[in-house]
Amino acid sequence: MSTQPKKAVVVGALGVIGRYIVDRLLAAGDWQVVGLSRREAPARRGYTHVSVDLLDPAQCTERLAPLTDITHVFFAGFQPATGKASGFASNVGPNRDLLANSVSAIEAASPGLRRVVLITGTKYYGTHLGPLRTPFRESDPRHMPPDYYFDQIDWLTGRQHGKPWDWVELRPQTLCGFAPGTAMSIVPAIAVYASISKALGLPLRFPGASGGWTNLYQVTESELFARAAHWAAETPHCSNEAYNLTNGDLFRWCNLWPKIAAVFDMPMAEPQQISLTEQMADKGELWSSLRERHGLQPYTYEELVAWPFADYVFGTSWDVISNLTKLRQAGFHEVVDTEQMFVEQLTRFRREKIVP
Ligand SMILES: NC(=O)c1ccc[n+]([C@@H]2O[C@H](COP(=O)([O-])OP(=O)(O)OC[C@H]3O[C@@H](n4cnc5c(N)ncnc54)[C@H](OP(=O)(O)O)[C@@H]3O)[C@@H](O)[C@H]2O)c1
Repeated sequence: MSTQPKKAVVVGALGVIGRYIVDRLLAAGDWQVVGLSRREAPARRGYTHVSVDLLDPAQCTERLAPLTDITHVFFAGFQPATGKASGFASNVGPNRDLLANSVSAIEAASPGLRRVVLITGTKYYGTHLGPLRTPFRESDPRHMPPDYYFDQIDWLTGRQHGKPWDWVELRPQTLCGFAPGTAMSIVPAIAVYASISKALGLPLRFPGASGGWTNLYQVTESELFARAAHWAAETPHCSNEAYNLTNGDLFRWCNLWPKIAAVFDMPMAEPQQISLTEQMADKGELWSSLRERHGLQPYTYEELVAWPFADYVFGTSWDVISNLTKLRQAGFHEVVDTEQMFVEQLTRFRREKIVP
């Protein structure tokens, strides 16, 4: 697979997954990459960006028609639901259509399409719904729908029948990276929450559910994810298979929290459950003043953090554990030390003046 020229479309190229896939493929040196999103982004060596609303089928067909030599699609587009994280019925249609419109247009324009890498996640197992059987295996039966992953997978597998291209599905958990403007990123949420607590003279309190303090949880570093997506795109025997994909370890927030407090030179106090969506809603002005006082990078409060996602992560009071055997047996063995990853990413946020 890797000897012929490779040209990828990364759908959702500015997201907390997509931008890391772009960087990974460009660093590999033998890929050309086209990124898609509604926002504009500058071209760079090996990279062009197409600004397109993929929910507008006519615009999609018109802007993707010139892409006649695409070999791979990495689908990391996402439209958040309005309301509760579990209010999934409302985002089935848009997320299925993002996939269907983009893949259909690229398939029509590029006869050399070889593989579509679809990014779903552990919500496939219903991790957002309540306690469930762990560890999750790729072969586990589905939960009661709605779940837009089901619609995406069913659309893609139906479409692929009898075609020269194939698919790989990757199921990560809680991506850890930095992508301003994303609806789903936990590291900036922690960084902003800690900085605001500190500015208000408060100790660092875990804001989640009591069970969430001590349950076993897992995350996926964005860079690790991108390396695995690259591997999945180039590994022939991954054809038409789904894989769980996390850092490879488990952690408890109660063990990690003192290390986070140390990064911000803060005292800790007992956990106290709050709705971050509600309690942080009035802190935008405070953030602007912190940004000015500390000479921070010019991100707005809304660009940096989406509180509903943080409430969802911290509100998970049951174990969240993926079985990684299938991924390991297929040949991807990389791991990340999650506690060290949080310390490094949060330290970087301070060093790069994203937060004080
Ligand atoms: N983040 C996580 O923790 C996590 C965990 C597990 C699974 N996942 C799954 O991973 C997938 C990707 O999510 P993500 O977290 O990477 O999302 P994200 O950071 O919010 O990125 C979404 C991307 O999609 C683009 N996009 C949204 N609507 C679009 C439209 N109408 N037309 C063109 N582009 C559009 C966005 O750019 P514009 O806004 O510029 O259009 C952005 O580049 C989702 O299925 C998600 O459920 C995510």
